[in-house]
Amino acid sequence: MYNSVSRCCLLAASIGVSLAVSVTDIQGNAYRSPLAGQTVHNVTGVVTAKGPTSFWIAGEAVEDVRVSHGLMVFSQNTTILGQVTVGDLVSLSGLVSEFRSSTAPNDLTLTEITFPGNISIISQNNSVTSLVLGKDRSPPTQQLSSLDNSGDGFLSVPNNSTRLDSSNPTLQPTKFGLDFWESLEGQLVTVAKPFSLNFENRFGEFWVRGNWKVTGLNERGGLTITFGPDGLPDANPEVVIIGKPLDGTKNPATAIGLGLSDITGVVTYQFGFFYILPLTAPTIISRPSEEASPTTLTSPAGKSCTLTIGDYNIENLAPTSAHLPSIANHIATFLRTPDLVFVQEVQDNSGPTDDGVVSANVTLSRLVAAIANISQVQYEFIEIAPIDKQDGGQPGGNIRSAYLYRPEKLRLVPGSPAGGALDAVKVKPPPFFLGRPSLTFNPGRIEPTSPAWDSSRKPLVAVWDTPLGGRLFTINLHLTSKSGSVSTQGDARPFVNLGVDQRTSQVALVSSFVKSILKADPFANIVVAGDFNEFVQTRSVFSPLEKLMTELDVLTLKPAERYTYVFDQNTQQLDHMFVSNSVRLRDPQIEHVHVNNWAPNFNARISDHDPSVARIRVCGA
Ligand SMILES: *[C@@H]1O[C@H](CO)[C@@H](O)[C@H](O)[C@H]1NC(C)=O
Ligand SMILES: *[C@@H]1O[C@H](CO)[C@@H](O)[C@H](O)[C@H]1NC(C)=O
Ligand SMILES: *[C@@H]1O[C@H](CO)[C@@H](O)[C@H](O)[C@H]1NC(C)=O
Ligand SMILES: *[C@@H]1O[C@H](CO)[C@@H](O)[C@H](O)[C@H]1NC(C)=O
Ligand SMILES: *[C@@H]1O[C@H](CO)[C@@H](O)[C@H](O)[C@H]1NC(C)=O
Ligand SMILES: *[C@@H]1O[C@H](CO)[C@@H](O)[C@H](O)[C@H]1NC(C)=O
Ligand SMILES: *[C@@H]1O[C@H](CO)[C@@H](O)[C@H](O)[C@H]1NC(C)=O
Ligand SMILES: *[C@@H]1O[C@H](CO)[C@@H](O)[C@H](O)[C@H]1NC(C)=O
Repeated sequence: MYNSVSRCCLLAASIGVSLAVSVTDIQGNAYRSPLAGQTVHNVTGVVTAKGPTSFWIAGEAVEDVRVSHGLMVFSQNTTILGQVTVGDLVSLSGLVSEFRSSTAPNDLTLTEITFPGNISIISQNNSVTSLVLGKDRSPPTQQLSSLDNSGDGFLSVPNNSTRLDSSNPTLQPTKFGLDFWESLEGQLVTVAKPFSLNFENRFGEFWVRGNWKVTGLNERGGLTITFGPDGLPDANPEVVIIGKPLDGTKNPATAIGLGLSDITGVVTYQFGFFYILPLTAPTIISRPSEEASPTTLTSPAGKSCTLTIGDYNIENLAPTSAHLPSIANHIATFLRTPDLVFVQEVQDNSGPTDDGVVSANVTLSRLVAAIANISQVQYEFIEIAPIDKQDGGQPGGNIRSAYLYRPEKLRLVPGSPAGGALDAVKVKPPPFFLGRPSLTFNPGRIEPTSPAWDSSRKPLVAVWDTPLGGRLFTINLHLTSKSGSVSTQGDARPFVNLGVDQRTSQVALVSSFVKSILKADPFANIVVAGDFNEFVQTRSVFSPLEKLMTELDVLTLKPAERYTYVFDQNTQQLDHMFVSNSVRLRDPQIEHVHVNNWAPNFNARISDHDPSVARIRVCGA
């Protein structure tokens, strides 16, 4: 029925006859309007909402859930906006447009009426009803788009192999999240019992889930990127971002897991995402009661085969950083001074000042002193200073990875020099094929001149002995970042996950190095940990490592609790600890300590990453 109407109108338009069209004719059952570019007349609908530059109308609904019966009418003319009131049944003319900001080429387009005119008010005080999400319609919970159809779903490579706008697929709103939100574009909807999923962004916007089925729900109330039942990554399309209130009120500051009053607003697309623009700001009605607690994983005092290992991206730590005492407190109090700590993003002694300084011994000494001040634990540290400005990150900061270690619990295996920035470490076979392998440089860097590490941190490798004879190889990573990635709800399908090619090459080099250790000693204890800047659901990146090692989370944590980061709508894991079989077989454990992502507000967060602690055994039964 609907389709025959739109064919009639296209035909009519093409022969220059104007016909009255409905809102549903304009919206159609795909992304783009079948009437885009045409002037339409006598479009009728009830005004559902008004904002500073637009109003929204609801036309007659059709049975077909693919077709929205809401529509935005854009005008910056205050006379025109002043002609209509919420509840008016209006008739109007205008140009059907697919709007995309010229500065946002990857945005989807928004169907709207521009240059409205001939506005007549047919009647007033009509009832305005919203569609109640979770009751009238519910979003699908796993995939974003029918075009993300290779092996890793929305995280597949190659990325940007098709575009949603030009493909303009017919909507499948029960299956694909973007199709669901598109099928409600312009409609007035209500989110009952919303919970926020992240801190608000710098524009005061925040993501929510509502009173409907969700997947990947963690104990805090956020939604984690997991694998769905069909084995594909779950992108959490069942959530939506709440924009600036239409009445000029101000949204509250949010965090993961805050309960809010019901939100009613119009569905739109802007800034790369489907939004609800609320009629008015919601209020906070509940907050999670629990605060992050210290890890339960500790190691015995004195000589032991058990070691605790911390891992923490300490976000551009410089000697004078205001957050240094808090980082020290996290390591001392919340991580409970692990025997060995992998840290990333340690800046040089002059911080972001670009003056040729590359050593970070002052930065690390201050951190160690601050930890000792709180805990009486006196760490030692090792690093390899990078070549100035070659490892990416904040300009002038020369961030690098480093280890803090407790000398009474472990020492660097002697007999090899410390490597320099350009020295490629190799596995050193045991002398006369007796004993155990070590490293040619201790510590050393993996293939530091390989293009895989251009503008990126080189992994810091070390080999350690414990007093009871356990030997442990460690690789501390900070892979190239996702910075510059485009929206997961944009035109490019799959979305452009920036740096994925480089991270793939980086993991391949690390995996070859791990293989070389295992070749020398199949029973070697190895821990590869750090900030991978990638989710394990991007299997194309992790596959060579997964063949050799096991991620600790998989052994001990429920899928939804595997997170160290929150970005946009998703809690997610960028920080990982992988162990070799020898470690895996001795009952290792891991905890993520949510000191940052459970902060009550954005400003209380110390680093963007949560730290983790593992407990492993490196000798004994
Ligand atoms: C649009 O409405 C006007 C006035 O209500 C009417 O005169 C005109 O015939 C209508 N046009 C169409 C194409 O229905
Ligand atoms: C605004 O709309 C009114 C009514 O259609 C019109 O008379 C006026 O010229 C418009 N103003 C501008 C600046 O376009
Ligand atoms: C108003 O309607 C008339 C006749 O139907 C049409 O010529 C004119 O273009 C319409 N105005 C606008 C702004 O669409
Ligand atoms: C619409 O409702 C308002 C307030 O409820 C009232 O003042 C007004 O007279 C009503 N208008 C019509 C046309 O019924
Ligand atoms: C991702 O998309 C960008 C931009 O289109 C392209 O340059 C890059 O090669 C793609 N990478 C992968 C791994 O698909
Ligand atoms: C995706 O590819 C198209 C065509 O090559 C290109 O124009 C566009 O900029 C790419 N998008 C992104 C986000 O890289
Ligand atoms: C840092 O290293 C320099 C050069 O080796 C040395 O002179 C200085 O004492 C060290 N500072 C600290 C705090 O370790
Ligand atoms: C040690 O702690 C004291 C008291 O909390 C503080 O005043 C001092 O600045 C701290 N020193 C270091 C090196 O962190």
